[in-house]
Amino acid sequence: MRVLLTGGAGYIGSHTALVLLEHGHEVLVLDDFSNSSIEAIRRVEQLASASIAVVRADLADLEAARTALEGERFDAVIHLAGLKAVGESTEQPTRYYRTNLVSTLNLLEMMRERAVTSLVFSSSATVYGTPQTRTLAEDHPVGQGITNPYGFTKAMNEQIIRDAQAAWPEFGAVLLRYFNPVGAHPSGRIGEDPSGIPNNLMPFISQVAVGRREKLMVFGSDYPTVDGTGVRDYIHVMDLAEGHVAALEHIAAGVAAYNLGTGRGSSVLEVVRAFEGATGIAVPYEIVAARAGDLAEAVADPRLANNELGWQASRSLDEACRDSWAWQSANPSGFDA
Ligand code: WQD
Repeated sequence: MRVLLTGGAGYIGSHTALVLLEHGHEVLVLDDFSNSSIEAIRRVEQLASASIAVVRADLADLEAARTALEGERFDAVIHLAGLKAVGESTEQPTRYYRTNLVSTLNLLEMMRERAVTSLVFSSSATVYGTPQTRTLAEDHPVGQGITNPYGFTKAMNEQIIRDAQAAWPEFGAVLLRYFNPVGAHPSGRIGEDPSGIPNNLMPFISQVAVGRREKLMVFGSDYPTVDGTGVRDYIHVMDLAEGHVAALEHIAAGVAAYNLGTGRGSSVLEVVRAFEGATGIAVPYEIVAARAGDLAEAVADPRLANNELGWQASRSLDEACRDSWAWQSANPSGFDA
């Protein structure tokens, strides 16, 4: 298949592009490079010994995207493009809604014009809002207790895709609800390259380890968890990338939602210890106040994806720490060093 990968130069996109190429697919990346680097694409090409077609356009600009894709053929779409910083979304809500919703609307219209019927969408466990159960399964209510505009854009995009499908019976979409993606390709050639101060735990830890930041701030220590710190389901980005390819290869008419997670929770302090154990580098930390809007615990029930997609997360948190460090230590300033 020739797959249009929106946001294909980003963290999830670059790893997904690599796995697509390794599975014999062709990749067409559409990216505006507002938070990504063409160097990521070049490195994926080197790792896969294959080439990637790239168009530079803002998907939220329909005419620009149409023009950029003129003359390009694709059989399916993996839609990852979007803004993703939770804190920023509370400061710039209209920008988040405009970018994340209009991009999906434009994409769906272009797919209909071209009669491209297969879509994999990058959703998030954040659509479950406040957990009502110990682990989160796909039939958990969506949309209640979401605490930020970023999260709402994911839930709204899911609804937009469902409504578009209801009006177009041949259309097939898979909504992938990611838990917490971490790690990097084991080569250390591609990885997560956040701009500015990282919002997420693993890039913050690896920047402390490499000496770019003094210490980790641990947000909260009196959650009702194993050690009082927040618990998440950390999934290796290579497992996540493989989940996209499994989803793509299982698309049928209709809409299906799947969790991409491991089913295992780890606390912040457990992640710190795993990182120290995997790398031999101390990660100084300080416990500070809890972050507004944070959950105590969010862990996937991944059985639906295991059973229906024939996919399972197989890499450990230790491997994710080792691979994050392989990337960070070889690229202390990211792609643009
Ligand atoms: C993980 C744990 C923090 C940073 C968010 C979004 C979600 C998804 C991923 C993606 C929590 C703690 C973190 C730090 C810390 N979006 N922490 N010190 O909050 O589960 O999910 O990112 O694009 O939609 O909500 O991930 O990595 O920010 O935090 O103590 O400096 O680490 O409190 O318990 P989170 P995270």
